[in-house]
Amino acid sequence: MSALFEPYRLRDLTIPNRVWMPPMCQYSAAPEGPETGAPNDWHFAHYAARAVGGTGLIVVEASAVSPEGRITPYDLGIWNDTQVEAFRRINRFLVSQGTVPGIQLAHAGRKASTGLPWKGGAPLGRDDVHAWQPLGASPVPFDENHPVPTELTVDQIQDIVGQFADAARRALDAGFEVVEIHGAHGYLINGFLSPHSNRRTDAYGGSYENRVRFALEVVDAVREVWPDDKPLFFRISATEWLEEGGWSADDTVRFAAELHAHGVDLLDVSTGGNASGVRIPTGPGYQVPFAARVKAETSLPVAAVGMITDAEQAEKILANGEADAVLLGRELLRNPSWARHAARELGGEVHVPDQYHRSV
Ligand SMILES: Cc1cc2nc3c(=O)[nH]c(=O)nc-3n(C[C@H](O)[C@H](O)[C@H](O)COP(=O)(O)O)c2cc1C
Repeated sequence: MSALFEPYRLRDLTIPNRVWMPPMCQYSAAPEGPETGAPNDWHFAHYAARAVGGTGLIVVEASAVSPEGRITPYDLGIWNDTQVEAFRRINRFLVSQGTVPGIQLAHAGRKASTGLPWKGGAPLGRDDVHAWQPLGASPVPFDENHPVPTELTVDQIQDIVGQFADAARRALDAGFEVVEIHGAHGYLINGFLSPHSNRRTDAYGGSYENRVRFALEVVDAVREVWPDDKPLFFRISATEWLEEGGWSADDTVRFAAELHAHGVDLLDVSTGGNASGVRIPTGPGYQVPFAARVKAETSLPVAAVGMITDAEQAEKILANGEADAVLLGRELLRNPSWARHAARELGGEVHVPDQYHRSV
């Protein structure tokens, strides 16, 4: 049997296969009014299609723990009950197809308040009706186009830790089985981890121990409300691709062991996004070595992501012991039934709805 189609058990949850969908913002929620941040028909159709296609776990896109935590005004949010109700409808359908529903909880930090990526994605001007003032670890902008973020006070940091816990409670209420904390791509938590963006001189900056403090407080607060039988994931940028002065792969290995001790069950290993203007050597499976290193050097399970598109390539990553699961992003946007095709190619089984029995 193919490794890709072996079920995977974490805590009391069994995920039917190792073909997973990573969080991918759709920037398609209402930017204002009572439905702000709530998933709608687009999100239903988008996630439903990947569930029908046999995807084992879907991690719903970055969902902000507060309005200021959105990247754009069109992001999903999970700070109120209207949003919870709307997520519930999607999750009911995902579960009916045998797909495990997960969600990424996020705060955009200094990269908040930007426009739609397909319209350039630039930071919103001060006079834009939807613009807001971004918050960050330190008053250091992402690049020359971004505004200087407001440095969070310790009280504000504590409020945000509480917002992550509230969001996790809501995620449970909405029927999610997995929560992933977004600690990657230069958003708020990543901004604290890295000396490139964190210039604080208090207990949340300076030494490695101080820079990881906020992330670990979020993990502890979420773990406290997230049930013991359900897995908690953490997404990390394993490297910033900076020669020096940034978060490194060595830091990631050290931190992975600490995350595990704090109750994280799986590290979702991405890279980049916190330093502007760096060259990232992309190519097939380019981030897999970072996942493989965490797997080799710690006991924390890992998922690999980044330009994994081919069934044999994905199978090899698992068979070689480089990761416990693979996440396919843009490939699943292109082909919602990727898991079905891969199962046919490799010899495996995925859920196929009765309505489609003649296509088996
Ligand atoms: C449209 C789009 C939206 C994304 N949104 C998120 C997100 O919400 N959270 C996140 O951690 N990564 C996000 N990513 C990154 C993906 O999760 C994934 O790591 C990346 O696309 C690399 O995998 P791929 O080569 O299989 O697409 C996004 C990527 C795309 C293409």
